[in-house]
Amino acid sequence: MTVKYINNILFFDEVNVLDFAKTNQTPFYLYSQNLITHNFMEYTQNLNTANHLLCYSVKANSNLSILSILSDLGSGFDIVSAGELQRVIAAGGDPAKTVFSGVGKTEEEIKFALSKNILCFNIESQEELNTLNKIALAEKKIANVSVRVNPAIDVKTHPYITTGMRDNKFGIDESEIINLYQEANDHKGLNIRGIDFHIGSQITSLEPFIDALSKVISIIKELKSLKIELEHIDIGGGLGISYDKKPIVSKEDFSKEILKLVEPLDLKLLIEPGRSIVGDAGILVTKVINTKKSPSKNFLIVDAGMNDLIRPPLYSAYHAIKEVSQTKNKKILSDVVGPVCETADFLGKDRMLSVKQGDYLCVENVGAYGFVLSSNYNTRPKIDEYLAKDTDIKKIRIRDTIEQILENEKKCLV
Ligand code: LLP
Repeated sequence: MTVKYINNILFFDEVNVLDFAKTNQTPFYLYSQNLITHNFMEYTQNLNTANHLLCYSVKANSNLSILSILSDLGSGFDIVSAGELQRVIAAGGDPAKTVFSGVGKTEEEIKFALSKNILCFNIESQEELNTLNKIALAEKKIANVSVRVNPAIDVKTHPYITTGMRDNKFGIDESEIINLYQEANDHKGLNIRGIDFHIGSQITSLEPFIDALSKVISIIKELKSLKIELEHIDIGGGLGISYDKKPIVSKEDFSKEILKLVEPLDLKLLIEPGRSIVGDAGILVTKVINTKKSPSKNFLIVDAGMNDLIRPPLYSAYHAIKEVSQTKNKKILSDVVGPVCETADFLGKDRMLSVKQGDYLCVENVGAYGFVLSSNYNTRPKIDEYLAKDTDIKKIRIRDTIEQILENEKKCLV
């Protein structure tokens, strides 16, 4: 539980959200350093019997201050672009602890990552393998590689966030993996480091991880028999989080089960969690601009829109929404909607809430895939981000000005 009421006022970790909202421009994201640290330590403490490296998945929340906190905790990073690598470096992160995933790494991105001597390129296709070899040879470098297996696992999550099913664009089919490793072995520009997979995000049970891991372990055994030795196994993203308070498998049980299978392999374990590190460590605070009643619905029109948080319309994602100040007034069934001109612009539907114009609402569990997916749609500025440590709150991103949004177009106005 990351939010609680004290005397009817909502607190996020140690922060009195009402006091903070009253004195700062809404909407804003607010993160908790204590919760991020706690989530990180929960993995590392439970995995500490094994040689392991947690590579935080930058895409979940790439704010430089958050990357810096994680780097200070000893985290490595999972990146999917040169931009993310630049973020890691700017935050003081170590490229030598960074793995590069993704199906479409460009030549420029590969060169940049090679120049920074990253830990590993997670390869997603035969063409990419050959391109990487060519670039590495031309740059007089040796690229560390891992091949991403597509374990063809059916996971129970939103179809847009599955990544390890047969029809997904990610990874390489089991039937082709051995050949690809043999090819990699013959390439002079490549150094085989590991094997990896990622089956999807927001997975809240153990079975899919175990099923995928078991398949990958058989591949590792086959590779061993062919004298292809690996140094690490990278099991991809972490657990999902509970958005609706239903209990899910704990990081402790997850780690135990993973270790049971991985420890006998005598390989370093890499894991790339994103959501479970930052997801519950962030809230979005928004102000009610207007309330509106139509014949069939009540609307709470707030100052945060789908450009600030797109998860509800994009993935039909549920985020709990709470009054920042509770009253005894009757709660009304309402849709919480933003100011953007789209019917898809909602933060939550059919919520029992009691607020009036000028009151504040708190959207929970938005630390992962929240701000990073925001846009300037409707020429709305991307909003402020704050980080709390106990009761001390620092701004970690300044909201865009309209001038900044227009700048690059003004420069080339026809
Ligand atoms: N590693 C790879 C290769 C990934 O593709 C991902 C997420 C992760 C790690 C981190 O997975 P996590 O621990 O966060 O589950 N925007 C969507 C989620 C997309 C996830 C994409 N890949 C959402 O808002 O639910």
